[in-house]
Amino acid sequence: MYRLYPPGCGGALEDVVSLTPIGVPRQKITVSSLRDRKFQHEPITCLTAYDYSSARLVDEAGIDIVLVGDSLAMTMLGHDHTLAVTMDEMLHHVKAARRGIQNALLMADMPFGSYHLSAKEARRNATRFVKEGGAEIVKIEGGEKRVPLIRKIIDGEIPVAGHIGLTPQSVNRMGGFKVQGKSLSEIEQLMRDAMALDQAGVSCLFLEGIPREVADMITSEVSAPTIGIGAGPNCDGQVLVFHDILNLTFGPPPKFVRRYGDAAAEISQAVEGFRADVISRQYPDDKESYHLSTDTKQALEMLLERKRAMRTRQIKAID
Ligand code: KIV
Repeated sequence: MYRLYPPGCGGALEDVVSLTPIGVPRQKITVSSLRDRKFQHEPITCLTAYDYSSARLVDEAGIDIVLVGDSLAMTMLGHDHTLAVTMDEMLHHVKAARRGIQNALLMADMPFGSYHLSAKEARRNATRFVKEGGAEIVKIEGGEKRVPLIRKIIDGEIPVAGHIGLTPQSVNRMGGFKVQGKSLSEIEQLMRDAMALDQAGVSCLFLEGIPREVADMITSEVSAPTIGIGAGPNCDGQVLVFHDILNLTFGPPPKFVRRYGDAAAEISQAVEGFRADVISRQYPDDKESYHLSTDTKQALEMLLERKRAMRTRQIKAID
């Protein structure tokens, strides 16, 4: 059983049947709901989405956080890493995702270069995500060295999510996408980073590409909920990339990815089917065509008949 959105509640397509089942009351997710979840030991779910339709499907499936991640540089724009994506490109996707979301918390990823030059520019860019894009929280990669900047953004009434471990924007410094926190000194640094971000007031902390033992330690030490990706099962929540779980990445997935569908196969099959039907003239058929009314059809036939007769008379006159 599905419900229709009441007028004014479904964005541009409010009259279209929603996928949300009737009778499942959905709560608007806020940064404080995330903290409640940690204290109640209820797992937090997060998925990336980068446009209206994917964000709407993710939201209607009941996911808590929709992350417009800078991973869109790779999944949507075809780059080899996340460094190239700009503020304006990110904003374009955040705005589209906003239109598809009703209940999930909308998180915008601050792209490489948008917070590295000055705290003032970082705050201006974070403000653009909220004001122009409708984001409710921004995410920033990096540990204790980001603390002054994060405090300034939070002072500007914008919640911030931290992100430590394998931070893809540091790919050049790390020398590749490598699991972090494997040595004692790296573990110490990660713990310092986590504690510093927690004290700075981040609303949640993303832990990417670190051993599960280290993620466990961080999760029990910090008050902010931790959200893991390649960080084992004991984080307060889990995030994956939309394209990874649906096999839309055109390559072997990292170890931590679990595939929940094969959209690539579905899409290829549908596209090949369309092509085959057009080539064999099986698409469109009569039922998929518009028709004239009987009156207009008769009038058109009479008109054409008159034209044909006139043409015949003209040819005879020339002969
Ligand atoms: O950009 C992204 O998708 C992310 C997640 C991997 C956490 O930052």
